[in-house]
Amino acid sequence: MPVLIVSGTGTEIGKTVVTAAVAATALARDLDVAVLKPAQTGVGSDEPGDVDEVIRLAGGVTTVELARFPEPLAPATAARRAGAPPVRPHEIAETAGKLATEHDLVLVEGAGGLLVRFDEEGGTLADAARLLAAPVLVVAPAGLGTLNTTALTAEALRARGLAALGLVIGSWPAVPDLAARCNLADLPDVAGAPLLGAVPHGAGALTPARFRRSAADWLAPALGGGWDVARFTADAAPGARSRAAWDAGTGSAER
Ligand SMILES: Nc1ncnc2c1ncn2[C@@H]1O[C@H](COP(=O)(O)OP(=O)(O)O)[C@@H](O)[C@H]1O
Ligand SMILES: [Mg+2]
Repeated sequence: MPVLIVSGTGTEIGKTVVTAAVAATALARDLDVAVLKPAQTGVGSDEPGDVDEVIRLAGGVTTVELARFPEPLAPATAARRAGAPPVRPHEIAETAGKLATEHDLVLVEGAGGLLVRFDEEGGTLADAARLLAAPVLVVAPAGLGTLNTTALTAEALRARGLAALGLVIGSWPAVPDLAARCNLADLPDVAGAPLLGAVPHGAGALTPARFRRSAADWLAPALGGGWDVARFTADAAPGARSRAAWDAGTGSAER
């Protein structure tokens, strides 16, 4: 799995934090890691972008940004308004492919969700994923509403012949509500892909040393970590599948 596309159900859902966790886990296993952010929007030329946040949290990775547009908009729109050339899917694929010849793992973080447009022709991260034949990691929120956006994302992937490697919950609350707990059981079903991790809420605010020590505990073996979905679900949501199990005392609404 030299190239992994990190997409998700939307913006501000934890793609960068998850990218940093996957990178930190790979670095701890002595892998050479590169992170490609094809189009960074919403930050000025002298401000830190997502790849800088990955370096801060995870440490020594190679980073590449193909373009930066200051307005916080979809890349195609931001490029048009900036009067700048857009980033094309084939450029994303070529850059990721080149990085993959020099690194063990290349993480490509999209902008917003899967079908956000990068150019005026409607090119998306999904097109780049197809050119690369790369698997897609879907980052999803924990709570109410995530089943629909996750199902839509999974369906869009399937319609394009792309494979979802799995799902990672971008920010798992310290006190998960009923929807978040039930979603642990339902997310893999609606996505047709396994749950491969849950990054705790607040992880992005840990010290980098703590973040690097903990990251492997948030990610499943498929992502190089030691996270166990069955144990996590049993601990966090013993009644996710059955209200009777809940009422029998294996779970509590007050947890
Ligand atoms: N697990 C987490 N712990 C702490 N902060 C988080 C976590 N997930 C997301 N955030 C915060 O939420 C915001 C959006 O997360 P980010 O990873 O940048 O999302 P995206 O890349 O999908 O836009 C950021 O300010 C980030 O620090
Ligand atoms: Mg991001």
